[in-house]
Amino acid sequence: MKTVIKKQQGYVVDLPYSFSFYQEMQPLWLVSAAGFIGLQAPKLTEPFRYCELGCGLAVNLLVAAALYPQGHFVGVDFNAEQLELARRGAEAAGLSNIELVHADFASLAAQQHQPFDFMVCHGTWSWISPQNQQQILRTVQQHLNSGALFYLHYMCQPGSDRMRPVQQLIKRVDCSLPGQSSAQSIEQAKHLLRQLNQAGVFSHQPGMTEHLAALCERDANYLAHEFLTDYWLPEHSADLHQRVVQAGLSYLCSANLFDNLDFLSVPAEVQPILATVKDPALRETLKDLARNQQQRQDLFQVQPKPLSPALQLSTVQAMQFQLLPHAPEAEALRFQTPIGEILAPEALFSTLLTRLQQGKTSFKDLQQLPVFQQQTAVLLQALQMLIWAKYLHPVLPFQPSDSQQQQQLATWFRQQGIALQLIPQCGTAVHFPLTTEFTS
Ligand SMILES: C[S@@+](CC[C@H](N)C(=O)[O-])C[C@H]1O[C@@H](n2cnc3c(N)ncnc32)[C@H](O)[C@@H]1O
Repeated sequence: MKTVIKKQQGYVVDLPYSFSFYQEMQPLWLVSAAGFIGLQAPKLTEPFRYCELGCGLAVNLLVAAALYPQGHFVGVDFNAEQLELARRGAEAAGLSNIELVHADFASLAAQQHQPFDFMVCHGTWSWISPQNQQQILRTVQQHLNSGALFYLHYMCQPGSDRMRPVQQLIKRVDCSLPGQSSAQSIEQAKHLLRQLNQAGVFSHQPGMTEHLAALCERDANYLAHEFLTDYWLPEHSADLHQRVVQAGLSYLCSANLFDNLDFLSVPAEVQPILATVKDPALRETLKDLARNQQQRQDLFQVQPKPLSPALQLSTVQAMQFQLLPHAPEAEALRFQTPIGEILAPEALFSTLLTRLQQGKTSFKDLQQLPVFQQQTAVLLQALQMLIWAKYLHPVLPFQPSDSQQQQQLATWFRQQGIALQLIPQCGTAVHFPLTTEFTS
């Protein structure tokens, strides 16, 4: 009988990861996040190179390759089965600007590569060994151009810590069942968790019973990669930033735009305390604590070049924005945020939404609306809230070309049950309920 290898370097390999897509990793989102805080970013109108470390099924890369023909996209992963599925997607869509590299992080770091303008890593860092994290940092240090952006998603302290006992329980279930597959271990673990939940074991932790009940509904593919790894390492953001800075990069901001709006994302009672803190590392630590931050999507850059205030303004003014399919009507808007519900000021947001419903609009045009005259910062914040909520998106500074490839990719997604709708003008995609018919 063929022995199935369950883990490689402490990471699950006998079950592919589930499909996932994050707008925050797409080139235009990354460039816009840097632009919003006044930094130069790689130009999307020129050829660029983009690499995802631990790309899994590479849905992010397939979307990007179809929408940014001038980009060259490289996905790296040591799970050959996952890469094979991604390769079939690229072939079905006729994409020639995507390269899938079967390698682990150590061998990648030792390889020669043309330098990249973007490097992204999502859902991977906190679940691999410290040695493999070092290899990622080596790659980042060696293979990025000046001005390149590095996006890193990771589990953060203190919010992720509450799941540590659950991860330990699931891992122990797996260890107690030698010879069983990861999928079998997850089924056993779900059964045990449901029993414990019903027995009220988690009832002293606010929201935990509901959280675990929802978690038990997730598929084994997601749960195995989330909880069965030997390493499960939430980190303090200030510690992580220090490590990335040692690799020669600077911390810019979060790719989660809400987290950059301190006056909204930090509870009101904490604002006066935060205002007294100047040290950047202490500020980040305090904010993580105040928000009970669970995960972060941080953005770093090699040799950041700040734009002059005039150039920053003209860069933002030239940006255009377009509503996404899930955008609400111009009515009283409530944002569901990690620190609670925020009621959007109606006068501002209904004016903004009404204008945007007429079609894509530049920042400069929105500035002309009476409510936003002399209110540039307020307009910028309102747009970032709408982008964060996935209601709005910046528009690409070029015309996306090959619609045939996009249609072929949309067809392949549909065949695979991947509920994503491409939004070519915005260089992104949106999640769609599977029951709804979707087209590109
Ligand atoms: C949870 S998945 C994330 C996939 C994708 N980034 C996403 O967000 O959908 C983590 C990926 O990292 C890969 N991985 C883990 N350790 C690795 C290593 N040492 N070298 C290369 N890939 C690795 C796994 O095979 C897996 O596909």
